[in-house]
Amino acid sequence: MCGIVGITGNKPVADILINGLKRLEYRGYDSSGIAVSNGGLNIFKAKGKISELENVTRGENLEGLTGIAHTRWATHGPPNVINAHPHCDGNCDVVIVHNGIIENFTALKTRLAASGHEFISDTDSEVLAHLISEYYEGCLEDTVRKILHLVEGTYGLAVMHADEPEKIVAARLGSPLVVGLGEECNYLASDVAAILGETKRVLYLKDGDVAVLTPDGVDVTSIDNVPLSREINEINWDLDQIQKGGYPHFMLKEIFEQPKTIRDSFRGRILPELGDMKLDGLEMSDTELREIKRIVILACGTSWHAALLGEYLIEEHAGIPVEVEYASEFRYRSPVIEPGTVCFVISQSGETLDTLEAMREARRRGAKVLGLTNVVGSTIARESDAGIYIHAGPEIGVASTKAFTSQVTILLLLTVLLARRRNMSLVRGQRIIKELELIPEKINKILEQSDKILEIAKVYKDVANFLYLGRGYNFPIALEGALKLKEISYIHAEGYPAAEMKHGPIALIDPDMPVLVISTSDGSYQKIKGNVQEVKAREGKIISIVSEGEKEISEMSDHVIEIPESLNMLTPLLAVIPLQLLSYHIALLRGENVDQPRNLAKSVTVE
Ligand code: F6R
Repeated sequence: MCGIVGITGNKPVADILINGLKRLEYRGYDSSGIAVSNGGLNIFKAKGKISELENVTRGENLEGLTGIAHTRWATHGPPNVINAHPHCDGNCDVVIVHNGIIENFTALKTRLAASGHEFISDTDSEVLAHLISEYYEGCLEDTVRKILHLVEGTYGLAVMHADEPEKIVAARLGSPLVVGLGEECNYLASDVAAILGETKRVLYLKDGDVAVLTPDGVDVTSIDNVPLSREINEINWDLDQIQKGGYPHFMLKEIFEQPKTIRDSFRGRILPELGDMKLDGLEMSDTELREIKRIVILACGTSWHAALLGEYLIEEHAGIPVEVEYASEFRYRSPVIEPGTVCFVISQSGETLDTLEAMREARRRGAKVLGLTNVVGSTIARESDAGIYIHAGPEIGVASTKAFTSQVTILLLLTVLLARRRNMSLVRGQRIIKELELIPEKINKILEQSDKILEIAKVYKDVANFLYLGRGYNFPIALEGALKLKEISYIHAEGYPAAEMKHGPIALIDPDMPVLVISTSDGSYQKIKGNVQEVKAREGKIISIVSEGEKEISEMSDHVIEIPESLNMLTPLLAVIPLQLLSYHIALLRGENVDQPRNLAKSVTVE
């Protein structure tokens, strides 16, 4: 999604702004631009990659100590230079960059056009620059506060005016913004990754905040000009953590990091001797945990797949009814929240707009809301009543991998926590923890098969369709495997509960159709054997993920990937790894951009 960087201070800003944009590339974008104050406001924009912007600015005068920059992910109007941000008013006195959507832009535009404003882009954002110019009377922050009362929609906004060359005014409603504090230099970004190389002291703006940045300081007020104080946070991620560390792609690095990130997720939270978990972030007493009557889990995409696994785990082991909802559906229907309902909200970024709004809706209906997020200080983390950080570290590849396995790890911990306050025995709790501690090493064994998986990828790289089948805990993994493949390779892929195949998808099976079957040795093993036979009888190609030493399904399969044995409830953490690697290799063989697949964004901050 769109990204914002801004700087005002005592050093040339152009290179820092462009480097900041590069750190936001992972969010997905299709054009970029920069504006620097030097005598007037100089704007440069380019379609495509940031390297194009560098080409456009080479040799140009971009000296200046205050500037803003943007990566755009098209919503209103195609990706081209005119629609790229920054946008300015007719005289180029006002320049803005904007994330979000101005819903009443057509009405505002009509009004402004009637008083002589000429618009050149198809965007909704351009109207903001003209509105500010229309109402400007010498003080930029006053003007921004005034015009925001006229605007409907969402914004993360940064504005400069030629008459106040050292000032950036920022405003937030529904689209994240973070302010970085430096020495005689202050920073603005839509994502802390953009400014991490410059400062680690940040404050997060809240919805309704307007911030004024100058080299001397930062003031935050409400849009009605009430002074506000915002807590200063120290960021403990460093730049190395968001770089590739010797891997050709972030996605591969993140797949290979999983033994560590899963350990980071459970470290300090398992109590091996007590067979229990310590999740202080939930801020719930034993009595409160026992009183939970129903759980609703809200999420989107990959996080939704983790949520589905959460349902299977919690219902089986803790006996609490769980409902998993797509956040986008939950927020617009009339969900029933009864007393005793706790709502878990799962989001890697903590900024997904549908998930955030669903969380707000759940709270309005009386639920306690608990966030499971990765990004510290994200909106969902801050707005939830309490929550658990999954500790996967920065995930840069657009396709989620390590965040998924960390989400699942946390859901496993949560399951034991809830179950031990109900019927789960001490011995069972101890056994689960023992097996969980072995998972990172078992993942290492699967990662060693990457070359073998590459060979399988070579066979199937040109197919048009793929079917993924699993039962029980492996059904959400089938969904996740199919999503991973389609989003980075653009091969159409579907995940199905294996038994559902005969209710429709079996019609698709022919010798050209690869079917990936996850058939680890759990309660559903005998049943899934039957499903494999059904595919075989129709000459479909079978790639199977089986437990080590398995014979019968392996003999029926065209390709076999073995994974180590574990408890059924932990197997998903293992089974998903070969599926991530298969998608990665297939996408790469097809020449696709695995880290930034087309049309996708890392943080989906629009509906
Ligand atoms: C898929 C993927 C997306 C996200 C979804 C929710 O690989 O990354 O499906 O899972 O957009 O994002 P978060 O978890 O940030 O709310």
